Amino acid sequence: MYGVIRNLLFRLPPEAAHSITLRSLDLAHTMRLSGVLASKAGALPVKVMGLEFPNPVGLAAGLDKNADHLNALGALGFGFIEVGTVTPRAQPGNPKPRMFRLPEHQAIINRMGFNNEGLAHMLTQVDRRSYPGILGINVGKNKDTPAEESEQDYRKGIAAVYSRADYITVNVSSPNTPGLRDLQFGDSLKSLLHAIKDEQRQCQEASGRYVPVAVKIAPDMDDEGVRFVASALREAELDGVIATNTTISREAVAGHPHANEMGGLSGAPVRESSLRVIQGLYAELGDDLPVIGVGGITDGESAAEKIRAGAKLVQLYTGFVYRGPELIAEAVEAIRQLR
Ligand SMILES: Cc1cc2nc3c(=O)[nH]c(=O)nc-3n(C[C@H](O)[C@H](O)[C@H](O)COP(=O)(O)O)c2cc1C
Repeated sequence: MYGVIRNLLFRLPPEAAHSITLRSLDLAHTMRLSGVLASKAGALPVKVMGLEFPNPVGLAAGLDKNADHLNALGALGFGFIEVGTVTPRAQPGNPKPRMFRLPEHQAIINRMGFNNEGLAHMLTQVDRRSYPGILGINVGKNKDTPAEESEQDYRKGIAAVYSRADYITVNVSSPNTPGLRDLQFGDSLKSLLHAIKDEQRQCQEASGRYVPVAVKIAPDMDDEGVRFVASALREAELDGVIATNTTISREAVAGHPHANEMGGLSGAPVRESSLRVIQGLYAELGDDLPVIGVGGITDGESAAEKIRAGAKLVQLYTGFVYRGPELIAEAVEAIRQLR
């Protein structure tokens, strides 16, 4: 059924299709029709970062940036939902068009630029939710916050969402905020991780509750960069790492009419580089610090290979846009076969 709906939606510009789909999902949910659309994913419980996930297949950040559609998305069968990226203050993002489909490659290029309604709106939406499942909240920095004040934005994000999130993701890997990805390297990374851990400790002391914090990294990193991130995460005692965000490489889609659009490429073309990063992280971290695998999952096998490479959980975005809720069940079943 999703195939028919998708063919209609794909006649619209991507961002219009995105918002119509989400509003229709909300309507279906209000009319108690979510069950018809939901994936038939069976239970496959897994404990990661101290949290009990009903299944290991989650929704990646960026699809519901403001937590406006949490209840409807949460009823589709995902094992967990990550909302955001949210920045301290609302910001409009880049001018449109800023999202492009590459159906021949099961891919998307986006340069949304953290368009979002800010922390205050996010908190209101999260407080209103009836979704009972695991909620990750992904935080970032405002575009106009100077690089040397980035830590303050991440601290604000963590402090604001701490009491509402089951886990928090610190996003340092979007290609669409100038300078953001520099935070993944050298002393900038070490200093940021130190600040994040400090904020987490303060929030824990104030609330008496421990909320795990993961860092989301890019696939455009050589093996040495991956090793550096792994050791910095271990040293700072972070709780997890999400690998990966979109890629700035265009090698896999060279020649496509949209190939030269600025932004991050996601979907099938990022599968290999995401896998290489997961393998590199797992080689360094083993089972000490969990890896959440994301990037180019379009079927059961591409989900299972991330778990074989050492990931404990996986997330979907672009594959979900192309395949719909059936991909959730397919991924869960492929992972079940590994047990
Ligand atoms: C349109 C779009 C917007 C995205 N926005 C965000 C975001 O706000 N924060 C984030 O951490 N990742 C964002 N991502 C990245 C995805 O969460 C994911 O890491 C990436 O797309 C790779 O997975 P995929 O190949 O399954 O799409 C976005 C991806 C797309 C396609």
